[in-house]
Amino acid sequence: MTVLDTAFPKLKLKNKLLLPIVQGGMGVGISAHGLAGNVARLGAVGTISSVDLRRHHPDLMARTDKTRDKALINEVNLIALDREIRAAHAIAEGNGVIAVNVMRAVAEYAAYVRQSCESGADAIVVGAGLPMDLPELTSEFPDVALIPILSDARGISLILKKWMRRKRLPDAIVIENPQYAAGHLGAAGLDSVNDPHFAFSVVLEETLQLFKQLGLESENIPLITAGGIHSPQQVGELFALGASAVQLGTPFAVSEEGDAHINFKKVLTQARPEDIVTFMSCAGLPARAVKTQWLSNYLDKEAKLQGKAGPKECTVGFDCLHQCGLRDGIAKAGQFCIDTQLGFALQGDVKRGLFFRGSEKLPFGSEIRPVRELIDYLLNGVMPAAATA
Ligand SMILES: Cc1cc2nc3c(=O)[nH]c(=O)nc-3n(C[C@H](O)[C@H](O)[C@H](O)COP(=O)(O)O)c2cc1C
Ligand code: SF4
Repeated sequence: MTVLDTAFPKLKLKNKLLLPIVQGGMGVGISAHGLAGNVARLGAVGTISSVDLRRHHPDLMARTDKTRDKALINEVNLIALDREIRAAHAIAEGNGVIAVNVMRAVAEYAAYVRQSCESGADAIVVGAGLPMDLPELTSEFPDVALIPILSDARGISLILKKWMRRKRLPDAIVIENPQYAAGHLGAAGLDSVNDPHFAFSVVLEETLQLFKQLGLESENIPLITAGGIHSPQQVGELFALGASAVQLGTPFAVSEEGDAHINFKKVLTQARPEDIVTFMSCAGLPARAVKTQWLSNYLDKEAKLQGKAGPKECTVGFDCLHQCGLRDGIAKAGQFCIDTQLGFALQGDVKRGLFFRGSEKLPFGSEIRPVRELIDYLLNGVMPAAATA
């Protein structure tokens, strides 16, 4: 048996008892079947990011390489998603949970959710927007756990009230702090990313209050904190504040089993604090990444590009987002194609890629280590021999 153990209380999701560690969904292709399957195999929650997974399948890429046929791209992406979920389960061998992350901001959100349920995902995790309609979309799959990602008690209140009218409750809630997290951040704009009301202590307390107000104390909805978590001490503190599990992104992205190119992992592990920046994504949300050559050049030109923003055709014919700053000419949003840039990063193209990363230091510094060691360190304080945090 390969599962790990811990003295911390287990995370209860549906009828499963799990290690209280969630590997966050990371697109494009950064968390696919390899990472999610290996995390689940240890008894924790592994999450596949659903977005544009054809990039891991040369046969599907060959079918869509130069095409602008949106329907075909969507079709092969659903095939890729199905393959990835099944492959992750094969690695997990029945241990842990295989979740799928779907971003609300993605045009094919509903199709990805449906496919995930049909292909056997244990849980659907939705961020980058409020998944008000998730209970309806999954009503035929009552055994699939539903987990929204939110950053403050206001968002949690909106979801709870809406879902309660549908007689459904979240099976857990991820509370992601925009001050530390990687990728898209749940704040209205760049100026509010560091707002103190996003502090874990504040959001956990307000959410526990909210549960009382809504008569939900006895439902024991687990709260999973995410953003900047890198030590067993933090895990202990968050549990003491009321968290039931922690979600990590960046430390898993750079693990041995992470599905990205080795160069991707090196860019993240070698970034200095001053290299990590926040900026506006074309999805209209603030985002955090490493200021690599492409991002630095883009940011130099951003004001000029925003000044001449105007509606145009999607650059690659994929139309991946509901609202895209570049395609729809939304001046205050980013003016680049995120799918293209994230695709370069996945392949390890250091010059052209966009490399999402959280703001905090990594548990094992610049070392790339197996997920077993990462989880054992976070939950049991076991620091592997050669690693120095
Ligand atoms: C490379 C990368 C890509 C990410 N992509 C997504 C994504 O597609 N959807 C999502 O909900 N979160 C995404 N995240 C956020 C993570 O799931 C996680 O919540 C966050 O990174 C936690 O902060 P940490 O990186 O400091 O641990 C991404 C993070 C990274 C590092
Ligand atoms: S231009 Fe916008 S909508 Fe089109 S693929 Fe790129 S990010 Fe997606």
